Amino acid sequence: MTLVLGIETSCDETAAAVVRDGEDILSNIVASQVDLHAQYGGIFPEIASRAHIEQIYPVVEQALETAGAALPDVDVITVTRGPGLAGSLVVGVNMAKGLALGRSLPIVGVNHLEGHIYSLWLAGPEYRFSRSDSPSADGEHIPIEFPVVILIVSGGHTELVLMTGHGEYRRLGGTLDDAAGEAFDKVGRLLGLPYPGGPSIQREAAQGNPSAFDFPRAWLRGNQGKQNFDFSFSGLKTAVLRALKECDPEYVTDEPVSEMIPVVDMAASFQAAVVEVLVGKTIRAADEHQAKEIFIAGGVSANTALRSAMVAEAGCPVRVPPLSLCTDNAAMIASAGYFRFSAGERDDLSFDVLPTWPLTR
Ligand code: KG4
Ligand code: ZN
Repeated sequence: MTLVLGIETSCDETAAAVVRDGEDILSNIVASQVDLHAQYGGIFPEIASRAHIEQIYPVVEQALETAGAALPDVDVITVTRGPGLAGSLVVGVNMAKGLALGRSLPIVGVNHLEGHIYSLWLAGPEYRFSRSDSPSADGEHIPIEFPVVILIVSGGHTELVLMTGHGEYRRLGGTLDDAAGEAFDKVGRLLGLPYPGGPSIQREAAQGNPSAFDFPRAWLRGNQGKQNFDFSFSGLKTAVLRALKECDPEYVTDEPVSEMIPVVDMAASFQAAVVEVLVGKTIRAADEHQAKEIFIAGGVSANTALRSAMVAEAGCPVRVPPLSLCTDNAAMIASAGYFRFSAGERDDLSFDVLPTWPLTR
């Protein structure tokens, strides 16, 4: 048995978790800073790193306590090394180094995006969906089969990745401008909805008409006219702004929206445009690479419209993480680190954070 302590501080969640053998969560503690940042409508980096400093020690302590474990029981410490905010990453990395040094434990630095991917190793059989099965069929555990096409959609990233084995990735495409979650957050702000925009837009969209506004879908074509696997969301955001000004010529961002703005219809139409492109490109990539499964990971994978459209349209099973593992957490970092540790990987104590670390090296 291998007990892994995972630590994650790449953005605005201070998180620690204890995971057994890469798949069993014994504890998963997340201290969110969302309320601290809500007043700025986005993440304020210096406030984030200072809040991590305050939270990291109690969060790690609580993760061990909840797991019924003490540091001497831990076999390896895994920590997010990047990508993320430098001032936030260093807090987790220094905590991990201190613990590793104090207890002579091995340490493995983990890529945050790889962490999101491994949230699917922590998801039970009820999170594997296919058109023919009912989602929680008989609770049978069906092992993950490669190759897998993965859509990583978070506040900072939108990437389409082909995974052919543990730690083996090929990037198929990604966003050329805003990340999908960033688009949700920016449009949420335009519509005067609370931060973060993703859950707010989903809530409003549930009461709106997704065909009310014909917002653009950026299918993006390569030089032979063939659609590629890249994404672009900034044009969509501009289209929403234009529609807002058409509905209310007096519209000003960051002021309460007037009654002339059909917020629910705009939210539904925006969400439909994002979902259509994310689903369309992911399914085409899965078909082209004969994927055995599709994964959706990252904060935006919490979106119910995205989940249900992917499951309804995919020709292969789709795995999505439980809601608690969609957004940033340390259990996914522990799981990803476990597979690297098992493959013999170790880092020495001199490693630095990598704020722009790509998944594919
Ligand atoms: O993965 P995550 O917690 O942090 C990053 O690594 O970025 O993702 C946060 C993002 C935010 O942009 C948030 O608006 C979005 O995930 N999000 C959602 C939903 N829940 C969170 N977007 C759409 N629908 C949701 N239900
Ligand atoms: Zn994330």
